[in-house]
Parts: sequence; C-alpha cells; structure tokens
Amino acid sequence: MTESANEPQETKPGLSRRGYLALTGAAVVGAGIGASAHALGINSGVITTQSAREFEDLEYDFYGDIQSGIITPAQENLHFAALDVNEGVTREELIELLQDWSYASSRMMLGLPVNAEGAFDGDPLSPPGDTGEAADHGPFGLTITFGFGKTLFETTEGVDRFGIKDQLPEALAKPLPKMVNDFIDPLISGGDICIQACANDPQVAIHAIRNLTRIGFGKTSIRWSQIGFGRTSSTSQEQKTPRNLFGQKDGTNNLHAEEPEKLAQHVWIKDGPDWCKGGSYLVTRKISMTIEVWDGLRLEEQNRVLGREKGSGAPLSGGHEFTTPDFKKTDEAGNPVIDQRSHVFRTHPSNNNGIHMLRRGYNYVDGNDELGRLAAGLFFIAYVNSPESFATVHKNMARDDMFVEYLKTKSSAVFVVPPGVEQGSFVGAKLFEA
Ligand code: HEM
Repeated sequence: MTESANEPQETKPGLSRRGYLALTGAAVVGAGIGASAHALGINSGVITTQSAREFEDLEYDFYGDIQSGIITPAQENLHFAALDVNEGVTREELIELLQDWSYASSRMMLGLPVNAEGAFDGDPLSPPGDTGEAADHGPFGLTITFGFGKTLFETTEGVDRFGIKDQLPEALAKPLPKMVNDFIDPLISGGDICIQACANDPQVAIHAIRNLTRIGFGKTSIRWSQIGFGRTSSTSQEQKTPRNLFGQKDGTNNLHAEEPEKLAQHVWIKDGPDWCKGGSYLVTRKISMTIEVWDGLRLEEQNRVLGREKGSGAPLSGGHEFTTPDFKKTDEAGNPVIDQRSHVFRTHPSNNNGIHMLRRGYNYVDGNDELGRLAAGLFFIAYVNSPESFATVHKNMARDDMFVEYLKTKSSAVFVVPPGVEQGSFVGAKLFEA
C-alpha cells in the first residue's frame, strides 16, 4: 500500500445536516427520509475529505443489503450499548420499537434529529423530540448497527418471550469457551440487543445511543455500554493503519471492504435460518491491557511478543508493513525469527485453518483503578460468519500467546447482526415474518 493510497479519497460529495435541511426542507422530512436519501444518491461507503473536521459532512445510508458499520471505513469513535428487553414487553411492542429505532437511525445517520420536531421546534409544553446535543453537528459518518443476543430468542430460563425461539441460529446457541485470561463480569456481558454507534465525532455517537435508548425507555434498559476512542483497525484499504494503546500498528492484516470474496467466505452468514443469511456475528470482548507493565518492557521484547516491528508494523521476518510474515524463516542459530508464541503467529490465518475475521475494535480508558493505574484497554469487536471461527483463533491465542500475560478479558458478548434493512422496513423484519 502506498502512502497516497492511505490518504482518504475525495470521491463522493457529502451533504451536511445544514446542507441537507436547506436542500430538502420540512416537506421531504415529512415524506419519509429514506426515500429522499436514495433520490439524492446518498449511499454507503466513501470518505469525502481529508481532515477530522472535514468528516463532518460524511454520511451513510441506513438502508441497504448489509447493515452499515461493518465494512464501512472504521470511524474514530464508538459508543456501544447492550440492552435487555424489560419484563412484560410483548412481541408487538418489540416490533414497534425496532420500527421506531430504524426510522430514528435513518434520520440520525443523515445528520437529522430523531424526528421532525427535533430538539427545538416541538410543543413547548412537551419534552423535545430530540435531546439536542448533536444539533450543530453534521452526521460525521455516523453508522448504527443492531444485533440480537441469544437471550432475545430464549431467556436463561428457556422462556420464548417473543415467539422467535425456533429462529435462534444454532451458532448463537452455543456459548464461547472460557479462555485462560477470562475474568468475565456477567453484569457487563451479553444482552438481548446491541447497538453499535460509530462516528468521527464522539458527541454524535453518544447522541445516537442516548436517543435510541430514550426511545426504548420503558421497553428496554441499558445492561452495559462502552465508549471507545481511536479505532484499532482499518476496514478499508484507503485507511491508514491506526495504533492501539500498546503503541502498535493495529489492523494491518485485517479484512477490508475491498475484498468481497474473503468477506463472503469469512464474514457474511451462509448457514442457519433464512432471516439471518447475509448478516454476520458480532463478538465483543472488553480486554484490559496492563499498559504500565508493557511500558517497562524492552522494545526488542515488545516486538518479539507481537511478531512485528513496533515502529513500521513490518513482520520480524522482514519487508514492510504489508509483507506476508514468513513463519519458516530462522536466524543463524536456527530459531524462528517470528516466535511461535507471538500474537501474529498465534492469530495468523495460516496457523488457524485459514480463518480470517473482520476486526473493528476501539481503545478505551475508563478512568483509573484503586492503585492509580489507568484502567485502559481495547474494546475488541470482530465480525465473523460463525462465532466458532472466532473461538478457534482465540483458543489458539489464549493457549500460548505471550500477549496474554499483558491482557485480562473483562466482558464478552455475541450477537447475530441481521442483514441490511430494506427501504421502508425495519431492522430484523424478516425474523418476525419467519
Ligand atoms: C488487547 C488485545 C489485543 C491487542 C492489543 C491486539 C493487537 C494486535 C496487533 C498489534 C496485531 C498486528 C497487526 C494487525 O495485523 O492487525 C494483531 C493482529 C491480529 N489479532 Fe490481535 N490484539 C488483541 C486481541 C486479539 C484477540 C482477542 C483476537 C481474537 C482471537 C485477535 C486477533 C488478531 C488477528 C486475527 C490478527 C491478524 C493476524 C495476522 O493475520 O497477521 N487479537 N492484534
């Protein structure tokens, strides 16, 4: 990949919240935003401009064959929420909520308030329709992605609350195996429904989660949520590889939007109930990183643990960042130059039956702990077409990866992400038609 290929390309004219409102006016808003978005040729995918502030007018379409926020070029900020559906909520009420969420998401992704009245123009005697903190912001490339957890289909007591138990994909029914460095807190794990909001501005991502959970008030409660900053992956070959809190280039050998065949093979669901085919499985792992211990390691050791040069990201077998690692290469003493216990060795597809995953994680810092250390880590997100594939790679990593000494997993969740939403429909509609 050349330097120039790393620069965002100027390929699609974006429309800002302000520009969009000026262009369409209230009549179009009333007529249904989805249709007008298509008429205006707004579609998924492309970075328009070259600096963070200029991401302001970048927008994606909520509607399409796949949900946004998977292969969309990873944005800089995340707010992720897992919700539980409250006791007593009916199937009809759940469907209505998914409809309301879809409509609100389609608007927010265009930089619009969640409903036509918005934050300031509604009845002064009623609470505003939108909370208002993103009112002066553009869409900033906001994507909103929904997923369903196992407990939506069947409670832990085996209750089929919404008549969808027979649609539970077998792949979701099986829990992930316990790993050596798992210290999983059930209170910040699992969940009936997840919402992943990503944007190039933190307030826009947080506004999305806040307003969607507000719409869900009384029907859903937030089980846990996580804010992330600084993407730790590239999901497009047009993006520069970012760095994680260990200072490493992260996301070098990730799957990219420009690799449709690999995505078809490793990310999009092929098996299971019809309603979820073309969707994906989303695995989250909140991984605490002992950064103070890491920072005391010799650079040479940091490189050995990863299997790549920290500065350039090149594999220790030589070449540049995107050179394929040569695991057979040995030094003069006959030892492999990429340690077999390095993270890259343990997770590389050639050592895991060819398995790839699409990683889409974020750095996080949740203040500090009682010993005065930063409570920092990586909120790991991966999209795969089977949680089993994730588990295979993870088992290989957990068993023998030197990295594990510096990591502690605190939360874990798996969701099935339905395929994209048709214009005028809502997320997961096919599940309820099945
Ligand atoms: C805090 C935890 C973690 C950190 C800091 C981390 C960091 C990294 C870094 C720096 C790379 C090399 C650059 C790249 O190709 O992206 C990498 C590669 C990779 N990691 Fe992780 N990782 C973490 C956890 C995990 C977990 C839990 C998994 C899943 C089992 C995983 C799977 C992978 C895979 C599949 C690759 C690509 C390997 C290759 O094809 O060369 N990582 N990771």
